[in-house]
Amino acid sequence: MTLRIGIVGTGGFARKHADLLAATDDVEIVGIVGSSKNKGDVFAIQYDSLGYESVSAMADAQVLDAVYICVPPMAHGEIERELIERGIPFLVEKPLGTDAEVPQDILGFMRLKSPDMITSVGYHFRYQDNVERLREDLHPGRIGIATGMWMGDMPEVSWWRKQEQSGGQFIEQTTHIVDLLRHVAGEVDEVHAVYASRFPEEEWENTNVHDIGTVTLKMKTGAVATISNTCVLPSGVGKAGLSFYTREGLWEWTTGHLKVTKINEENVFAEESNPYFRQTKAFLHALRTGDRSGILSDYADACKTQEVTFAALQSALSGRSIKL
Ligand SMILES: NC(=O)c1ccc[n+]([C@@H]2O[C@H](COP(=O)([O-])OP(=O)(O)OC[C@H]3O[C@@H](n4cnc5c(N)ncnc54)[C@H](O)[C@@H]3O)[C@@H](O)[C@H]2O)c1
Repeated sequence: MTLRIGIVGTGGFARKHADLLAATDDVEIVGIVGSSKNKGDVFAIQYDSLGYESVSAMADAQVLDAVYICVPPMAHGEIERELIERGIPFLVEKPLGTDAEVPQDILGFMRLKSPDMITSVGYHFRYQDNVERLREDLHPGRIGIATGMWMGDMPEVSWWRKQEQSGGQFIEQTTHIVDLLRHVAGEVDEVHAVYASRFPEEEWENTNVHDIGTVTLKMKTGAVATISNTCVLPSGVGKAGLSFYTREGLWEWTTGHLKVTKINEENVFAEESNPYFRQTKAFLHALRTGDRSGILSDYADACKTQEVTFAALQSALSGRSIKL
């Protein structure tokens, strides 16, 4: 059965998903929604598809088995509501919004209108071999402390640099590390964050996002985690990772490796998988068969990650700890 897929967005990640879908058997990209019809058309022509100016225009014109939503954080809301109203499953890129309210509203609407809808959220690291290894090896109750980071440069796209459009680095980018922490170590109970703008306007014009920050998270198990992020580094210099310090040893995950150190034993596992491919495969399988067991992050679960990252912003702005 050929699946008929639509895409919303014409940027870098719409292309990433479009390329994956175009290389997949029995999948047809039937429409691309741009912020204008012309932008949709220009993108669509490369995939032998058609451009549209809105989700409703695409859904009126095409039979859709699912839609991939690849828009910046501030653009969420109407797109999801339109798809839920029509009962069309979707895979949406992280983060779910700039705050926690919009995703919660969407989730509430979904539960009301289409409670069994298949959804997937682009927390692709969950599909790595090494993350599966972490989940197999580590018991949340044995973790003492975890330390995570996303240390990078200031992205070029203008929306990323605007707090009101991206939600800031912790919500937009470091959300991957928060999501992994939840996936491996369980739920978060309380957060306390300190953010600052260390080099405001130094060389990044029209920027109002914090450029450094650290968040302390108390886990429901009693473990403690800290996650730091910055976007002050020069381009191409940076790292992201999450380490777990346990009674049995140290597990140090980065995007490309996992290093496990125990008494008299050290192993390094290079990541060999393509998690984006697995993520899409699991979603398409669910559409075909109804079996959603391969989807590792759905909309309801991703709302919990969003709740944590937004609470961190509230804590940084208020100077108070936020209990979830
Ligand atoms: N999972 C990952 O590894 C990963 C990596 C990169 C980006 N992303 C996520 O993907 C999303 C998009 O990022 P990007 O890098 O493609 O950004 P981008 O700026 O390259 O592209 C965004 C596109 O969305 C379009 N757009 C904005 N509002 C729209 C609307 N209402 N309807 C239709 N199109 C609209 C813009 O015109 C633009 O073409 C972001 O949330 C980002 O965090 C995820």
